[in-house]
Amino acid sequence: MKTNPNYIYNRKYPSIKDLKEKAKGRIPKFAFDYLEGGCNEEYNLTINESDFDKIKLDPRYLRNYSGVNMKTELFGHVYDAPFGISPIGLQGLMWPNAPEILAKAACKQNVPYVLSTVSTASIERIAEVSHGSFWFQLYHPAEDNLRDDLLRRLVEVECKVLVVLVDVPSFGLRYREIKSGLSMPPKMNIQNVLQAALRPTWSFNTLRHGIPEFATLKPYMEKGMAMSQLGAFMDRTFVGRVNQEKVKAIRDIWKGKLILKGIASEEDAGKAAQLGVDGIIISNHGGRQIDAGESSIDTLKRLVEGYKSHYKVMMDGGIRSGPDIARALATGADFVFMGRPFMYGVGALGEQGGDHTISLFKAQLHQVMEQVGCERAEEMREFLLEI
Ligand SMILES: Cc1cc2nc3c(=O)[nH]c(=O)nc-3n(C[C@H](O)[C@H](O)[C@H](O)COP(=O)(O)O)c2cc1C
Repeated sequence: MKTNPNYIYNRKYPSIKDLKEKAKGRIPKFAFDYLEGGCNEEYNLTINESDFDKIKLDPRYLRNYSGVNMKTELFGHVYDAPFGISPIGLQGLMWPNAPEILAKAACKQNVPYVLSTVSTASIERIAEVSHGSFWFQLYHPAEDNLRDDLLRRLVEVECKVLVVLVDVPSFGLRYREIKSGLSMPPKMNIQNVLQAALRPTWSFNTLRHGIPEFATLKPYMEKGMAMSQLGAFMDRTFVGRVNQEKVKAIRDIWKGKLILKGIASEEDAGKAAQLGVDGIIISNHGGRQIDAGESSIDTLKRLVEGYKSHYKVMMDGGIRSGPDIARALATGADFVFMGRPFMYGVGALGEQGGDHTISLFKAQLHQVMEQVGCERAEEMREFLLEI
């Protein structure tokens, strides 16, 4: 019998659930609520996870088998595994230095890390720590010159993959954030200060690394802008609604790979094909925008057949284990992403959290592939149990 290659990870936390529990005890409540929350009644958030349980795999034990190879080619690069790290805004609020920790771990373990426009580390800083191997997620600016300047900065640091977010035409109503006062701009009320005091490691590290700020956007903010003006700045700086014209304009000037994130309908998947994008990420923003929508895995099921020949079909939302990654690949995804699980890892284990969580997913996926008899990630489709 062959044993798993020795993925180095902390054996006290073999599952994402273990990391989440630990992280909850180390991150102040207002920041953990920001990470955890979905919109409205959190129905979409719930089914994102539970709909994975419906998908079953079909093991083939008697086949000749030469071993697991998880390497996956995507946009001209061979990654070590078929998954990456979704963009998350305000990462450094949930754990100080989180973007740097995750970008470094992703670079070391050769999986993609996607930096959010509204993360707390700048394009240049993440380019430096990841040796230029990161992807960038763009909230679409209202002004063309801001768009062009961000694209120029990306070209300068040789970022090769641009992910344009399309699923935030309005802000989702997230009750947990509303209650904790974590709105735009973030408010440090007495309740939040007390919650921070109960999490000394977080507080100490926040003091050490400095108050989190929107580092990529800093050059465009007026010097000394008060926190109370941040919400208005965001509102006038970005347009939530991205249409075909806006994507076409980017397609014309951006020479790297172009991906649309947040695709959830047949109509938009069709438009993406007409626009000639290189890929889509099927996503409902981790259940944070439309409670009456379907789960990401169900959207993938519905769209994958029609569009796989046009571009790379990727997905995120609700993946919490190696078996879930295998289920998404078996359903037809070319590649998958996870958001919250990596933040649980960093919240639980700090500097080691990125490495640990990537290793955990690799080890779990490796085991499933070996168990069912799948040699390569792109062959996982054969192992979907159709009943
Ligand atoms: C706290 C939080 C902040 C997020 N911020 C962004 C963002 O700035 N840009 C973006 O494209 N998606 C953002 N997302 C959505 C994630 O990229 C991703 O689609 C989602 O987390 C996937 O679901 P999962 O957390 O179940 O893996 C955010 C999600 C969370 C939980």
